[in-house]
Amino acid sequence: MTLAVAGNGPQGATVGGIRRALAEEFRAAGLDTPALDARILIGHALRLDHAALTAAAAQSLGDAERIAIAALAQRRLANEPVARIVGEKEFWSLRFLVDATTLVPRPETETVVEAALAALATEGRRAERLRIADLGTGSGALLLALLFELPGAFGVGTDISIGALRLARTNARRLGIDRAHFAACDLAAALGEPFDLIVSNPPYVATGDLTGLAPEVRDFDPHTALDGGTDGLRFYRAIAATVPALLRPGGMLAIELGVGQAHPVADLLAAAGLALLPARPDLAGRPRAVVAKKCREKHRERGTLDPGKISLGILARTD
Ligand SMILES: C[S@@+](CC[C@H](N)C(=O)[O-])C[C@H]1O[C@@H](n2cnc3c(N)ncnc32)[C@H](O)[C@@H]1O
Repeated sequence: MTLAVAGNGPQGATVGGIRRALAEEFRAAGLDTPALDARILIGHALRLDHAALTAAAAQSLGDAERIAIAALAQRRLANEPVARIVGEKEFWSLRFLVDATTLVPRPETETVVEAALAALATEGRRAERLRIADLGTGSGALLLALLFELPGAFGVGTDISIGALRLARTNARRLGIDRAHFAACDLAAALGEPFDLIVSNPPYVATGDLTGLAPEVRDFDPHTALDGGTDGLRFYRAIAATVPALLRPGGMLAIELGVGQAHPVADLLAAAGLALLPARPDLAGRPRAVVAKKCREKHRERGTLDPGKISLGILARTD
């Protein structure tokens, strides 16, 4: 049992005392958010939410409760992220289950949701019956946040991890979203129909950088969710090669960017014929998401098209 949780110190074995002592132990161990971590882990062990935990500050803890808290604290001191310990992470104010098969959704990935929604709003398309695909869906965070915001939309999430797809399906059910489907395939390989919006947070860490990642990431996130190949751009190349053909004219790709990847990714998407909107920054001010559009005008370059024929998908020139 950690010293803090043993409760032998001057603060005794009350909920509040152990909470303060554990936060101090986490701080001394160099954890980034010691008080928050202590609160969440103690609340999880005692099954108390934030308010109930505060109200219980003066209550004494029995041995079984202190042992349960100590077990969670040891895992945190071994660098396991709090979200993995409690099995849940908030994303876009929605609660997602996470497990060993999925990346823990990150706050910066919300920038992709913001960018996609802003681009749709600019065109007045938020109420449409949009078809959305999420390539590398993991816990389903991106797809389900978008479907939550776009009640007329429906979508499909793909992943190569069967475990992640199973969890994404569970998350959809828990969130009451029945407009999501999930498919096991390599990126978009199983998708055929045209989409209005394709989103992705692909693996984008260069293989050689994996060992230098923070232990919370390197030792706990699945490497298939992180490894973006030699230069980190492998999945962006694959997406640039496949996504334009899957987008309807006017359709959009919204994709997350790793640090320093805004320019190379923009080059790949522009070379694939997509028109780029300005990259959207995350809360730290780094370019984090980019939206690229398939031009509606593209087919007109070959001549004037009869609008009736466009709606039937007939793209032959009429002049
Ligand atoms: C960075 S994670 C993103 C997960 C989730 N979209 C999120 O933002 O939290 C990348 C995801 O891509 C999946 N993945 C890796 N290679 C893939 C491939 N070839 N085809 C489909 N998914 C893949 C991983 O299993 C992982 O779930």
